[in-house]
Amino acid sequence: MSGLHLSRRRTLLGLGAALAAPVLLRGQSVWAATARPLVLPALDHGRREGGRRVFDLTVARGQTEFFSGHATDTVGINAPFLGPVLAAKAGDALRMNVTNALTEPTALHWHGLHLPAAADGGPHQPIAAGAIWSPEFTLKQKAGNFWFHAHHHRFTGAHVWSGLAGMIRVDDDEEAALPLPRTYGEDDFTLILQDRSFDAAYQMPYTVDMHARMAGLQGDRMLVNGQIAPFLETAAPRIRLRILNGANGTVYRLHFADGRRFHQIASDGGLLAAPVALTDALMAPGERADYLLELHDGETALLRAELFGAESPFAGSNGVRDFMEIRPRGARPPAPALPVHLAEMAPVAKQTGETRTLALAMTGAGLMGDFTINGAQFDHQRIDFAVPMGAVETWVFENNTQMLHPMHIHDVQFRIIARNGQPPARREAGLKDVVLTSPGEKVELRLAFNDYADPIMPYMFHCHILEHEDAGMMGQFTVV
Ligand code: C2O
Ligand code: CU
Ligand code: CU
Repeated sequence: MSGLHLSRRRTLLGLGAALAAPVLLRGQSVWAATARPLVLPALDHGRREGGRRVFDLTVARGQTEFFSGHATDTVGINAPFLGPVLAAKAGDALRMNVTNALTEPTALHWHGLHLPAAADGGPHQPIAAGAIWSPEFTLKQKAGNFWFHAHHHRFTGAHVWSGLAGMIRVDDDEEAALPLPRTYGEDDFTLILQDRSFDAAYQMPYTVDMHARMAGLQGDRMLVNGQIAPFLETAAPRIRLRILNGANGTVYRLHFADGRRFHQIASDGGLLAAPVALTDALMAPGERADYLLELHDGETALLRAELFGAESPFAGSNGVRDFMEIRPRGARPPAPALPVHLAEMAPVAKQTGETRTLALAMTGAGLMGDFTINGAQFDHQRIDFAVPMGAVETWVFENNTQMLHPMHIHDVQFRIIARNGQPPARREAGLKDVVLTSPGEKVELRLAFNDYADPIMPYMFHCHILEHEDAGMMGQFTVV
């Protein structure tokens, strides 16, 4: 059914998604009477020590009540499941004291942060059971949402599934000067979106069968900050949702039940040049975005997601889930007009170095294959290439598989320069560190490697479907 295939692809590319029919009657809530108010992750500003901002993070087992009266075994960072929002300012000198209180090794990676490879928290910085890892680095970022998550090779999927993830919020003067909502818990809300499956004992075992190995592990329940179907009550006429797709293997097409418009103001690495009006937003695993939602009319907004696994281009979506109700407390005057201009977006840097083609492929047949990048699977001992420090390069991901692969590169924020030869949509034209690639697609990126040379310690690039990554869809490079 190639017609279906085409329209699916069009949907995934955001070129003409048909919205599901609204289920909300104006002003009426169909939300579960048992719904609980949304709980935000704790906002952690760290502590000051000798001119540094220090975060003390303990990775440990815990228990979480996803279902009232039933405890689920989980893992978290300073919490039973997931972790705090680490709040810092651009330019801060940071130290992370990460204590691994598990009985097995893990690693904690600062996704999206530009830092020395030895501080990156990838597979080359394992933290033994009982050990403390204390990397120090300077926050060379624009204001934005970054995140941290487990990254111990072959265990990344299992560790993140159990709860090893949290967010990092970076503020700066450019963002602070804009009339945008930024009061945490009042008009500014961090949402970590995940999907999980639970067994009859209310546990969420990490079971990767042949299908999950190929398609990424997908759950049937949506979680928002570790909660099933919460509601958010707010008195603000306009709110900001800082969203992370923290799923192992699911792409979300976010939209509202009534098809209402909202604005995207930031992508992975910070503010866009200008707000972009949307009625639906595709977010792949690892991606972050800030959205503004107008609530002055007092109408309840039902947030929903259509779920796509890596196999969706040929198998279709996993359906639509309503996952959070947003309840304005009465009508109020609209917020002032949106700023027309958000951030200074530097022009895409001119290429001075290599063009590197990274071909994504699948070996073997059917569900028995392996995913490769340029014909190879991850090898801890093999550095795939060295980038000369100071080079501005073009990297081209060529997706030669039948599946979706959200590709992530450590170290730098990049710019998308073309998808199949076409310039990126405005919502993708800002700073990015994850780019979703569809079957047959060729995506060109521009990256500038301006500092942090280290001839030995590499950075990773990989598919952010964690089951693909753990199966070896990952490579590594040094900056020299
Ligand atoms: Cu978000 Cu290498 O990871
Ligand atoms: Cu990363
Ligand atoms: Cu993949």
